[in-house]
Amino acid sequence: MANRIAVYPGSYDPLTKGHIDIIKRGLKMFDKIIVAVLKNPSKTYLFNIEERLDMLNEIFKDHKEIEVDCFEGLLVDYLKKKGATIIVRGLRAISDFDIEFQMALMNRNIDKEIETVFLVPSVCYSFLSSRLVKEIYELGGEIKSMVPSTVDKKLKERFK
Ligand code: PNS
Repeated sequence: MANRIAVYPGSYDPLTKGHIDIIKRGLKMFDKIIVAVLKNPSKTYLFNIEERLDMLNEIFKDHKEIEVDCFEGLLVDYLKKKGATIIVRGLRAISDFDIEFQMALMNRNIDKEIETVFLVPSVCYSFLSSRLVKEIYELGGEIKSMVPSTVDKKLKERFK
């Protein structure tokens, strides 16, 4: 069977265990997953692109089947560059559906070869988001069980 490559794009500001759960599920279907971090100079992030890539490289350093990369511009152009046709996205709740459905159809409209595969995380991560993680750490809370230790350390440093 051909080598199946999928791209899992996102902001990853920061990566959570929900993202890792989706990657693990994706690896049941694909030989390789490219975790592609969006580089968007017009958006403000808590962690800059180098910091986000460093964290991801550290977290996935022992996993040959996971590639960490970044991209700028259109996602479909990045997929073409990588020789991939499949986008993986997580769907946590119905509230994710609208925007994800719109993006999937738009990406397919730009390039008809592109397919988007939606994966559902474990229910224990269904309420988890990078935005809430940042808010909780910023307000002095911590949710160690929801982020990898590399991310927990970085968040504590950032908000100490
Ligand atoms: O983690 P996020 O912020 O939900 O990820 C959004 C992402 C990176 C998947 C999306 O913003 C994207 O694909 N951006 C690249 C630009 C692009 O191709 N836009 C058209 C998509 S319909």
